[in-house]
Amino acid sequence: MRFPLSTDQLVHMVEENRSHTILGNTAQYIPALANQDPNQLGILLMGAQGDMLMAGDTDVSFTLQSISKIISFISVCQEYGLEHVLEKVDVEPTGEAFNSIIPFEIHRPGKPFNPLINAGAITVSAMLPGNSTDEKFQNLIEFIESFIGEQLELDEDVYISEKETAHRNRALAYYLKESNLLELEVEEALDIYLKQCSINITLKQLARIGLIIAYNGKDPITKKDVFSSDVARLAKVLMVTCGMYNASGKFAAHVGIPAKSGVSGGILAAVPPQCHREAGYGIAVYSPSIDVSGNSAAGTMLLKQLSSMFNFSIF
Ligand code: DON
Repeated sequence: MRFPLSTDQLVHMVEENRSHTILGNTAQYIPALANQDPNQLGILLMGAQGDMLMAGDTDVSFTLQSISKIISFISVCQEYGLEHVLEKVDVEPTGEAFNSIIPFEIHRPGKPFNPLINAGAITVSAMLPGNSTDEKFQNLIEFIESFIGEQLELDEDVYISEKETAHRNRALAYYLKESNLLELEVEEALDIYLKQCSINITLKQLARIGLIIAYNGKDPITKKDVFSSDVARLAKVLMVTCGMYNASGKFAAHVGIPAKSGVSGGILAAVPPQCHREAGYGIAVYSPSIDVSGNSAAGTMLLKQLSSMFNFSIF
């Protein structure tokens, strides 16, 4: 399969967009993320035959952060069914920051608006299959490994750094506990959530996950069903409506593809086959300078340019 652009063109686009890293900064509230090199920008596109096109800083690994939220949501939906999961977490955008306390104070009994804000993700982490926190985390990492056929590891430094600074997440978890929405104790749920945020990933691995989402849960390379098309449909809806936090509307308007960002500067994006000459792609971007919404500044601009050049938008 051919990509709609050459490597040279993609290299040129990356270098053009690298200057946008000055529009943000590395995540300062998690010390291990604050140390990342803010000038890096890399992108990798993967097609249905496993073919790849890449440019910029592609030899990088980084932690999943909030990108893990869409995968844990897929995992619990696949395990327990959509109906059961939606009893605990809604599918509405908030318009508030990803770690805001405001929705809890305004709406009672406090069911999280969606699984991609921190409160919803902590709720989902506690629901992961397994009889202990270790087993739940292990099941999640194995679920992600089943997408990519490779082993993944936890970044211990990031995990420790997150744990030491998780005051706001802890507060959110106490609100969830008060509303009887948390299936575990606060510290247990928090531990799984912070560990899943600290899983290391490469651009190639992330693009493969995007490719499987683009193809509705069926891996076009191995032809294996990784998760059901019902779950994939809802995952894509959530990525479009909530995946880029309170900048999701703008991202849908200007980029128009299901995507999920993380504060480490990664973005996972899926271009479904119906959008571009029946050829779907998984796209992974990394650039650790994030904007006020928590999204990679240069990564978002690069995706915007790519999408408008090749009309990737699903709308
Ligand atoms: O809980 C946190 O704040 C981080 N571990 C993850 C948040 C995140 O990636 C939000 N992203 N934009």
